[in-house]
Amino acid sequence: MQVVSPVEPDLGDRNRLRVVIRRESIADRDAIRSLTARAFSGLPFSDGTEPLVIDALREANALALSLVAVLREQIAGHIAFSEVGPPAQSGWFALGPVSVEPPLQRRGVGSQLIEAGLDAIREQGAKGCVLVGDHRYYHRFGFVVAPAFAPSQYPPQHFQVVRFGDSFPDAPVAFHPAFSAGAIQPNEPTGFAGGS
Ligand SMILES: CC(C)(COP(=O)(O)OP(=O)(O)OC[C@H]1O[C@@H](n2cnc3c(N)ncnc32)[C@H](O)[C@@H]1OP(=O)(O)O)[C@@H](O)C(=O)NCCC(=O)NCCS
Repeated sequence: MQVVSPVEPDLGDRNRLRVVIRRESIADRDAIRSLTARAFSGLPFSDGTEPLVIDALREANALALSLVAVLREQIAGHIAFSEVGPPAQSGWFALGPVSVEPPLQRRGVGSQLIEAGLDAIREQGAKGCVLVGDHRYYHRFGFVVAPAFAPSQYPPQHFQVVRFGDSFPDAPVAFHPAFSAGAIQPNEPTGFAGGS
């Protein structure tokens, strides 16, 4: 497994790191797995299965978009998007998991990944995006709390939607079954949880 060694910060304005965002390649998979494990390690809302979820989404051909943030040729962050169900609910995507290498957190890398991912799915014709997470973080990307569309097993107060047109989902959405492949317990997040 590739381990991301300490990266010398490439400081931009106001301490924001400038990263290159690109789609994942096959060669990135181990780095994504280990980065995700490190980012979620010890978080109270995580049971450590997030890397398995990404693998299961990929295995099911359900990883609609997988982006990495690269800093000096090392992967500093990752974001996954998957289409939500039921199948009739086409055009809606789930954001998450999203991870930034712990020493590099709060330097704008997560924001750049989220903005680039939302732009990409919008350009692909998405109607919008959903997630389960902390609204204090995700509101800055346009997400609004939308309990009516939350899957039954998730805390509705943390379910959020950003829409690119006028429509909301037709009904409560369902995350891809890969999210339970890792036996994730949808307990109430005390931090940031996106679609996981
Ligand atoms: C959540 C995460 C992806 C955000 O990426 P990031 O690069 O750290 O965040 P950004 O620098 O883009 O955004 C910073 C803002 O996010 C918030 N934030 C990010 N990480 C935070 C943390 N660990 N604790 C508290 N606030 C945090 C802050 O409010 C900050 O706001 P400010 O700019 O007003 O201070 C990253 O912190 C991470 O990997 N966390 C662990 C895994 C996780 O929780 N993933 C989300 C669930 S799928």
